[in-house]
Amino acid sequence: MSGSRDSASDPAMRRPDFAAWMGQGNSITQQFLSFGNRPGLIALSGGLPAAELYPVDDVQAATERALATHGSAALSYGAVEGFPELRETIARRLSTERLKLTPENVLITTGSLQAVELIGKALIDAGDAILAEYPTYLGALDAWLPRQPRYAELAYRERWPEAKFAYVVPNFSNPTGAVLARAEREALLARSEESGIWLVEDDPYGELRYDGAVQPSLLEMSARPESTVYDGPVVHLGTLSKTIAPGLRVGWAVGAPEMIRALAQAKQGSDLSTSTFCQAVSLELIRADADRRHVPTLVDAYRERRDALCAAAQEHLSDLFDWKVPEGGMFVWMTARRPGLDTNALLSFALEEGVSFVPGSVFDPSGQASPSLRLNFTANPPERLQEGVRRLSRAVRAFASQRAAAE
Ligand SMILES: Cc1ncc(COP(=O)(O)O)c(C=O)c1O
Repeated sequence: MSGSRDSASDPAMRRPDFAAWMGQGNSITQQFLSFGNRPGLIALSGGLPAAELYPVDDVQAATERALATHGSAALSYGAVEGFPELRETIARRLSTERLKLTPENVLITTGSLQAVELIGKALIDAGDAILAEYPTYLGALDAWLPRQPRYAELAYRERWPEAKFAYVVPNFSNPTGAVLARAEREALLARSEESGIWLVEDDPYGELRYDGAVQPSLLEMSARPESTVYDGPVVHLGTLSKTIAPGLRVGWAVGAPEMIRALAQAKQGSDLSTSTFCQAVSLELIRADADRRHVPTLVDAYRERRDALCAAAQEHLSDLFDWKVPEGGMFVWMTARRPGLDTNALLSFALEEGVSFVPGSVFDPSGQASPSLRLNFTANPPERLQEGVRRLSRAVRAFASQRAAAE
């Protein structure tokens, strides 16, 4: 019949239902990042560093050195595993007496989130189980969404043998700010050994510690001192995003050579290599110790911001929420004292008052409604954090009285 559409040959008819797929993950991240652009809004929802503290002069000087030293190599395609000198520098920096790393143990990635994604690409088949903390990092849930894994809570010992790997953010977790104690780290390593599964240690925040004692990394704890090349079960992820700037998009995965080779294979089809230009600049920054020299500035500023947010919360929110003051990182995790308060529903009241937060449900692999919320304290100066908390307090009270009127 003339004019009828032939569904088999019409490409428009064969497009998959992207909306259903995106609604679960990526769009949520974009939505929370975009809150920052609303005029007048105090965005406590983002996961951003303090942009005014980026060490622009150091990056400029490193860029000049990168071009002078590496010339066309900084502008060409490069090895998929990363710049050899950068791999070597990272290996040397992270090595200790117990932990011996060589360049074979290191893959340079486009931000540490790419390493998270590559782990999914290399290890997850549809329906596989992954162990994670509940709640866990939203970016990892987003990265693995297309591979359709099942999630199980890390805490359930009986779930370990059936899982492909376990994923943890041991220092100042995103979203909870929690740190794994030494005994918890030992227990995780023992379970990974018992069940023979990989243990992914995602550590973007470890250097942003404001108080308390440093804990050893799972990577170092799992090293066998007699081995000359690390060959243990931990895949450790690091990044320059929090100590220099996220715009560099330079991170790394450190693990057993067989794992690094598998991740490099997965990376080949993703981007051929991390930007050689950004790697050369990062190499020069690390050689000059620019990241380590910058950390005390960040620690001082972020400690002050954390304290300002927590003091304001003590004054305006302590009858409504409980929280622990985090020892580092970027986030405070608050849980409503009143059971059943759904922070998804609270969000529109907060936006109305001119403040944003991230509701706990988005960090839950099962997406369940949550009485918790995440507040960022690094991206705003103390006065704005205090005003943000006052607005949040008004929003919670307006929400509660509207609910009481409806009951
Ligand atoms: C736990 C965690 N992992 C990874 C990342 C990604 O960082 P990068 O900028 O290195 O990709 C973040 C960023 O916020 C994070 O919170």
